Amino acid sequence: MKTWSINSWRKKPAKHLPLYENEAKLNEVLKEISKFPPLVFAGETRTLKQMLADVSEGKAFLFQGGDCAESFEEFLPDNIRDLFKVILQVSLILTVSSHLPIIKVGRVAGQFSKPRSSPTEVINGKELPSYLGDNINSMKFDSEHRKPDPIRLLRAYSQSAATLNLLRAFSQGGFADLSKVHLWNMDFVNDSANKKFKDIQDKVSEALNFMNACGITIEQNRRLRTVNFYTSHEALHLPFEEAMTRVDSTTGEHHDTSAHFLWIGDRTRQIDGAHVEFCKGIKNPIGIKCGPTLDPSELIKLLDILNPENEAGRITLISRFGFDKVKKNLPKLIQAVKKGNKKVVWSCDPMHGNTIKAPSGYKTRPFENIISEVKQFFEVHHNEGTYAGGLHIEMTGKNVTECIGGAQNITDKDLSNRYHTHCDPRLNANQAIELAFLISEEIKKNSKFSINSIKKAS
Ligand code: PEP
Ligand code: CO
Repeated sequence: MKTWSINSWRKKPAKHLPLYENEAKLNEVLKEISKFPPLVFAGETRTLKQMLADVSEGKAFLFQGGDCAESFEEFLPDNIRDLFKVILQVSLILTVSSHLPIIKVGRVAGQFSKPRSSPTEVINGKELPSYLGDNINSMKFDSEHRKPDPIRLLRAYSQSAATLNLLRAFSQGGFADLSKVHLWNMDFVNDSANKKFKDIQDKVSEALNFMNACGITIEQNRRLRTVNFYTSHEALHLPFEEAMTRVDSTTGEHHDTSAHFLWIGDRTRQIDGAHVEFCKGIKNPIGIKCGPTLDPSELIKLLDILNPENEAGRITLISRFGFDKVKKNLPKLIQAVKKGNKKVVWSCDPMHGNTIKAPSGYKTRPFENIISEVKQFFEVHHNEGTYAGGLHIEMTGKNVTECIGGAQNITDKDLSNRYHTHCDPRLNANQAIELAFLISEEIKKNSKFSINSIKKAS
């Protein structure tokens, strides 16, 4: 750690960083951003880390969800409200099944930059740089719009600040009040999901009436009126993350104040690479995406570098293998982590390993494969005696048609109806809620694998 500094990543090989034509302009923008107010505070980030430490012991469950890539075009208050609403609904369903607190983390208020499988895109024989996220270039397919433009970082900062402002208002200002749970309905959610959710709302109302009769009122209990909501994104655009990193005056620690939680992508987790170097020195909780090419010994090295003190809550391992690869790949990673006595949260991203190209040409994800990966994730953990601690989903509160299947039975020919994503296909509100109901049995079994239960049993 002696050699770490806020910009020591610059001496390491970095993948998936944009190349700006005008470096002087980029530096000017970064200098400006480095003087902007932080988006989150170190104290909040520490609280989240503590909550994730609880997850690592099986005392809570993590739910992380939001867009694959936020965009300037889809930046609308209703979209933020609907995403927040579905996260609350999913969390309520998961609470009822697990009887545990659900730690709510949005992929929001800063999730812009994307690693792409190819640096260029070819359409009708014309080749241009790939779209890298709205904070870097534009989706419009012409050479001017595809050039990385530093000014976009300023717009992304301001969008993140406004998004976070609204989310803070919703979390603390009464929207999340449990006595208003009936207002969280979504108009288009199908009958069966609606009926099941209505049953939960009735249960909540009954419980609140009972507590009220016992003299425990919502007015007196802030916890029933508000929720803690955290933000996250991939720590990909290192120049921006560096500009947002500040020293916390109360502890002297470095915190990346662009979000509470940051993760390292499956394509940028090289042990000697710039992204790992940067994340090593910031004190935020860090996620590591674990795909099929991650070797168990490499994972242990990553944990030693990123969490040398083996601090609980610091690391969340987000597995994303694909439904047909979980059983082959996940057990060996779990066994290595168990052998090394490493404290981690295990979370499941059932999206990124299950992307296919539909015959229509759209990128999509079959809902049944997503469910299958989640169910196998729980099964593998339970066979290994470990706690399956979280879910990481690409989703939106809107009624989009991007992933095929689910109760609405979205087919390939429906995809073109409302395909709005700027990158990967997301679950719509209906599918996200359905997923939460479909895994209730797995979540119920999960409690046996908390550290307390294991200690009691042995
Ligand atoms: C993502 O989460 O948006 C992403 C690119 O995932 P991964 O790094 O797992 O491919
Ligand atoms: Co994605």
